[in-house]
Amino acid sequence: MVARPVWRSSHRACLVPLIAGDIEELAALYADAEVMRGSSGFAIPRDRAAGEQWLQRTLAVPSTDAWVTFRVDDRSSRTFLGRCGLRREDGSQETELASAFVRAAWGRGVATEASAVVRHGFDTGLTRIVGCALAGNGTSLRILEKVGMRRTREDLTSTGVVIRYEMERL
Ligand SMILES: CC(C)(COP(=O)(O)OP(=O)(O)OC[C@H]1O[C@@H](n2cnc3c(N)ncnc32)[C@H](O)[C@@H]1OP(=O)(O)O)[C@@H](O)C(=O)NCCC(=O)NCCS
Repeated sequence: MVARPVWRSSHRACLVPLIAGDIEELAALYADAEVMRGSSGFAIPRDRAAGEQWLQRTLAVPSTDAWVTFRVDDRSSRTFLGRCGLRREDGSQETELASAFVRAAWGRGVATEASAVVRHGFDTGLTRIVGCALAGNGTSLRILEKVGMRRTREDLTSTGVVIRYEMERL
């Protein structure tokens, strides 16, 4: 349970700016093979050191930037459900919507709610946001479609066939 200022809350979830102290929950999330199997970037569990590197990189982004990743908590219990945010896509200047949630949170609409963070991106000046999902990750593909993205291409990567989506500011 955390008692930190909430950036934004929705029906089931609240988004809280990440801090270094979130490493325990994030490390547990990244250690879960079932969660990581869905990741278009890794697809295998990551150790604690990799989780720490990810968190340090994420926290290094200025908080005024549109690139922001949140800790997502259950709105009533304030327990950790996962993370969701906008980040610079590896190897490009594009902004990517990315999220991962603990298994206990799946199927409750939490990712759909948290993905509304794309509005924050557009409100803070982004003109385009992309999303990527493994071809076999039907849930993730559905999330990207629900948020309003359109499918643009498929790439064969080291983790499998990745479907790319894009969305432009209207
Ligand atoms: C993918 C993930 C983020 C989805 O989170 P979630 O909170 O369970 O998603 P939601 O409940 O908000 O929405 C799921 C939607 O997908 C649909 N869905 C579920 N399984 C599906 C499938 N196999 N094929 C198509 N749609 C599916 C649901 O019906 C729902 O859509 P609906 O609201 O229109 O009915 C979550 O499962 C997760 O963290 N997975 C592991 C990490 C991961 O895959 N991250 C994405 C990396 S690109």
